[in-house]
Order: sequence, then structure tokens, then C-alpha cells
Amino acid sequence: MTNVHWHPVLRAKKLRKKPVQVMFEGEKLAVFRTKDGIAAIQDRCPHRSASLSGGRVVGGSIECPYHGWRFDGTGICTHIPLAEGAPSNRRVRAWSAREAHGLIFITHDAQAAGDIRGPVWDDQPKVSRILQSHAHATVADAVENVLDPIHTLFVHKGIIRGGGGPTNRVTLIAGIESGELVLRYSGEEQSNGLLSRLLERQRSYAISRFYRPGVVSLEYWGKNGLNLVTTLYFTREDDTHLRGFAVMTGPRQGGLGWLKAALFVPLMRIVIKQDLKIMADATANWDAAGRPPHAQGPLDLLYPLIQRVLDGETGDVAVQEITLDI
Ligand code: FES
Ligand SMILES: [Fe+2]
Repeated sequence: MTNVHWHPVLRAKKLRKKPVQVMFEGEKLAVFRTKDGIAAIQDRCPHRSASLSGGRVVGGSIECPYHGWRFDGTGICTHIPLAEGAPSNRRVRAWSAREAHGLIFITHDAQAAGDIRGPVWDDQPKVSRILQSHAHATVADAVENVLDPIHTLFVHKGIIRGGGGPTNRVTLIAGIESGELVLRYSGEEQSNGLLSRLLERQRSYAISRFYRPGVVSLEYWGKNGLNLVTTLYFTREDDTHLRGFAVMTGPRQGGLGWLKAALFVPLMRIVIKQDLKIMADATANWDAAGRPPHAQGPLDLLYPLIQRVLDGETGDVAVQEITLDI
């Protein structure tokens, strides 16, 4: 399995005429629009190191705000002011960049990365919303946080689960299929929390997936198809800082979907804020302690599976099952 992927770095609507700086795996990139598409190049001018993203776009090139050198989307210097016949051996690093699913994706190698895998959906008319956030966490910890049902009883008490009333006996089946973590939940026709009660039609089952480089897909299926899909993309700014995008998709249901989105998005914002707060606290403690290995409890079956997927191990892992009253 290749280690080359597409990584979302920005919401497409945040990229207009002005270049935008993004952090990606410890490097600063200047992202900008050209007439041919999207460009992403090293955000440091080789001349005197000014940030190119502070400049403007001129005829398909970005112009350095310091002395006006220009670089095109492939990173080649196309112009040095007052010196005709710019030396074309001056260049900066460039990434491939594309706009898809409301996001800007980048990769080191577009050919090796293949197609951009977007959020799943069936053929119902849909409503989509995107939220963007920053997390202080590793990819493994953030992915586990999204997939883990137990923290919902504490961190999101009342919103996702733990809202009083009867609990459900939920069976959780996890395994790895084709390098992808697949998690099936059954026995939870409706989660015992505000979010599900307000917004969900009756659920038949839920499937969650995790695949590289850092994508979690939460799919809630009802009798007539998908009730809701939340796709979370985590892009590494560095080891412990992530840029997160949550793409939420629901059926339009003749307009009712818009109303549901209007309720769902603010609730999701609260949920995300709760997760970001506890993860930032935990990551800071873990970092200060010299990054010790996590203690694993009897119900922590996901963490080793997440690690395997992140490491790109291709062998299937037989399903493991736990039952929880939540
Ligand atoms: S620093 Fe960019 S042109 Fe001089
Ligand atoms: Fe959470």
C-alpha cells in the first residue's frame, strides 16, 4: 500500500483571490488559485525568506511581497523585477493541489495518490455542511476519540449518549478489511442523547470506518437509506497538531433536511468543542510526561487497530466483538 495520499488543508470557500498559508507536516505552504486550478508551494521565498502567502497572485504566479519575485504553481520563478530573463533555476517546492467536496486537498504525488476519496452517500438528495477546527492531538488519539463510544457518556453527556432514560445493549464489532478499520454497531436504534432524539429517523445500524491518511466516516443507516454521514478528515500540521474538517451530510427530505442541518451544526459545534478541550488537556499532559505509552483497558480494542491502519499494514484482522450497555 502506498504512503501517498490526498490531505485536505483548507475549506475551498476560504480560498479566494488572496493566497492562504497552511501548515502541513511541519512545513508552511502558500495555497493560491490560478486560472488552471489550485497551487500549493513552499511558503518561503528563496531570495530573503519572506512568506509568499503575504503577496498577491499575478497572472497565475504568486508575487513575493518583499522584492516582487514571482513563482508559478509548479514552484518555478517566473519573474524577477527589473531583471529581464529571470533565471529559471530558482524554484521552490510544489505540491499537487485540487478542489473536491468543498475542500482543498494536497499531495506530494498526484499520480501515486490516485483519486480523492470523498464522503460516502447514497442517491437521496442531500444537504451538506462543513466545520473546520484545530486539534491538539495525535492522529491516533483523535481518530480513537471519534470512534470511541465510552467517552460520550462523560464528555458529551446528554448530547450524544447518557441522557437519562433506558440504555441500549450495543454490540460493537471491529475488524480490518483491506487496510481499513470497519466498526459495526447494532442494537442502538436511537442513541440515548439529544442529538439522536431530535434529528435522527429510526436507525437500523451504524458503520464507522477509518482509513488513511486520517479519515473517519460515521454512517448511520435507516430503513430507507442513509440518515446521516459525518466524515472527519484529520490533517497533520505536526506531530500533535491537527487540522480537522467535519463534513456532515443528511437527506434533504423535501426541505426538512435544511432545518435539521440548522439544528445539527450548532450541536456538532458543541460536541467538537468538548472533544477539543479534553484532547488538548490530555495531549499536553502526555507531552509533558515524555509521551509514555497509553495504558490499555479491557474495552480498548480500537487503539491497536487504529495503529495498524496508520502503519499501513495490509493484512486483514479478524473481527473482535464487545457488548456495552450505553
Ligand atoms: S524575499 Fe522574496 S523577493 Fe526578496
Ligand atoms: Fe467525542
